[in-house]
Amino acid sequence: MRFKTQRPASWQSCISCGNEVVETDPHPRCTSCGGLLEVHHRPPGLTSTELIQRFTERRGGQPGATASGVWRFREIVLPSADVVVSHPEGNTPLLHRVALDRWVGVDNLLLKHEGHNPTGSFKDRGMTVGITQAKRIGAAAVACASTGNTSASLAAYAAQAGLPALVLVPLEGVATGKLAQSLAYGAKTLLVRGDFDDCLRLIEQASEQLGVYLLNSINPFRIEGQKTIILELLQQLAWEPPDWIVLPAGNLGNTAAFGKALREAHDWKLISRMPRLAAVQAEGAAPFARSFAEGFAQKHRVKAETVATAIKIGNPASYDRAVQAIKETNGVVLSVADEELLKAKAAIDASGVGCEPASAVTLAGLRRLIDRGQVKSSDRVVAVLTGHILKDPGLLLRYHQEMDPPPPGANRPLVIDPDLREVERVLGQKT
Ligand code: F0G
Repeated sequence: MRFKTQRPASWQSCISCGNEVVETDPHPRCTSCGGLLEVHHRPPGLTSTELIQRFTERRGGQPGATASGVWRFREIVLPSADVVVSHPEGNTPLLHRVALDRWVGVDNLLLKHEGHNPTGSFKDRGMTVGITQAKRIGAAAVACASTGNTSASLAAYAAQAGLPALVLVPLEGVATGKLAQSLAYGAKTLLVRGDFDDCLRLIEQASEQLGVYLLNSINPFRIEGQKTIILELLQQLAWEPPDWIVLPAGNLGNTAAFGKALREAHDWKLISRMPRLAAVQAEGAAPFARSFAEGFAQKHRVKAETVATAIKIGNPASYDRAVQAIKETNGVVLSVADEELLKAKAAIDASGVGCEPASAVTLAGLRRLIDRGQVKSSDRVVAVLTGHILKDPGLLLRYHQEMDPPPPGANRPLVIDPDLREVERVLGQKT
């Protein structure tokens, strides 16, 4: 259907067939064609100057929903939500480290560190909106498939909202910190003998047949929340966009969210120029990079393999939305080898910033783009670090303690007896 009279303040439409449904429709996909849904808002009834002023006033304001780095932008996220489920989240830092400028080869690299969110990843931004929407429509339970971060976030926000949560994760390959979170926050956790793509297929079937509200990033309300990574970073840059924004790409929800945020910010005159997106995948899980290299002639599906388990995804769900995001921002998609992303991670960690493996594809990818001359060293670049260093302690300990020969930056601990001479001996050793 299509709205014949004036549209409501917000509504959903299918990006494939254009079918329109009300904002509170609970289906995760278009019921006519199975396509992905998108949330639309009528242009806010404020000028860009008025909007920016409102966002500025709320920043660093009193504790409460509008001080959240998501709900501060509520007019362009979910204007009609009155009661929101907020931790709060967002308000993540924009960091600068000279050591990383040098490592990458740019003059001024900024890192938007989403690992500073309440459950340690950017997923909290989408989840506060997704769980708010679940409450609005009276969902009885919520569910997702995940490589670990979405499930940790869903579990925490469902606990806050008092909703039962079901999460499906691959039996092998979910980082320890993430699995531990979902258990501790109390989600019913199913370890599936299969990969993430199997989990997603299964949870879509389960949500349809069992009537639980699906909160994977195919849910368009998750995308609305994740847009605020971009809105907040633009605000931190006084609405002067950078030349490039670099992000990791897996299921492609975030690539889609970044594109939508930039499109809307441009349409509503919050910015006057579009930055370019650079979406980076791990080489063993790079179906999107392959499609990009072929001019998006077709969607690919691969059997994914990478040490960056967060983005070990072979059949990305938000493909169609992400293609639009890359096209509209004149963006690029590339992939990096596990070895390169581990080197980048070692550099990020050694700078004192730290991040989880998937986040490090950004700096590895950026280095490649500079080598190729696509990004100039004078360009203003923001890389989005999506998850916290402690999400994947297993990989960290293998890297530093076990890998043989020791990889770049490996920091082997030494075992000593409780004796001062032992400490002296060790300090005297050449490293
Ligand atoms: N970085 C991290 C740390 C992630 O956890 C994910 C996705 C991504 C990047 C990629 O984002 O999927 O929007 O392209 N994690 C999902 C999960 C799949 O289940 O936690 P994307």
